[in-house]
Amino acid sequence: MHGKALEWAYEIEGRDFRNAGKVSSKVKEILKELGFDPAFVRGVAIASYEAEMNVVCHADKGTLHFAIFPEALKIVVEDQGPGIPDIELAMQEGYSTAPPEIREMGFGAGMGLPNMKKNTDELNICSTVGKGTVVEMVIRPPSPENDQDEAIVRHHHHR
Ligand SMILES: Nc1ncnc2c1ncn2[C@@H]1O[C@H](COP(=O)(O)OP(=O)(O)O)[C@@H](O)[C@H]1O
Ligand SMILES: [Mg+2]
Repeated sequence: MHGKALEWAYEIEGRDFRNAGKVSSKVKEILKELGFDPAFVRGVAIASYEAEMNVVCHADKGTLHFAIFPEALKIVVEDQGPGIPDIELAMQEGYSTAPPEIREMGFGAGMGLPNMKKNTDELNICSTVGKGTVVEMVIRPPSPENDQDEAIVRHHHHR
């Protein structure tokens, strides 16, 4: 990606359910503050929340890097953890290896990776079993024409 970026990095602790979600709240806050489209911000927040929760639920610890480029946002979440042996399988809706104690807290529906895919323009996952995982997401803000299309659709729905 070209041009200058604004960048942030936040640490995420595995199994720290008390602070879980704080990093993606921060990302959301920054984008709101900068005046990004609310629907766009919502999508980014979902993708970043799911990536953050995957570190909390499945890894030891990690870092979320968040960068705003003129043409897109980039979120890279890298962790130290068990890694993902079969990424294609992990991407399936409903697939989860979350243990019972995590499911009891309401996580482990197996929709995190599919939701990340849905809410991003690019999703790349690199994982080494026994070492960790790197999830890279690129999200492009809506162009002015798309904005107009969305406004028309919204208008229809509200009638
Ligand atoms: N960062 C990660 N480290 C290790 N395994 C992961 C990671 N992210 C996802 N996975 C694996 O992929 C599966 C599917 O992830 P996801 O779709 O987010 O569902 P869920 O988190 O609800 O289990 C997880 O259950 C886990 O086995
Ligand atoms: Mg998940």
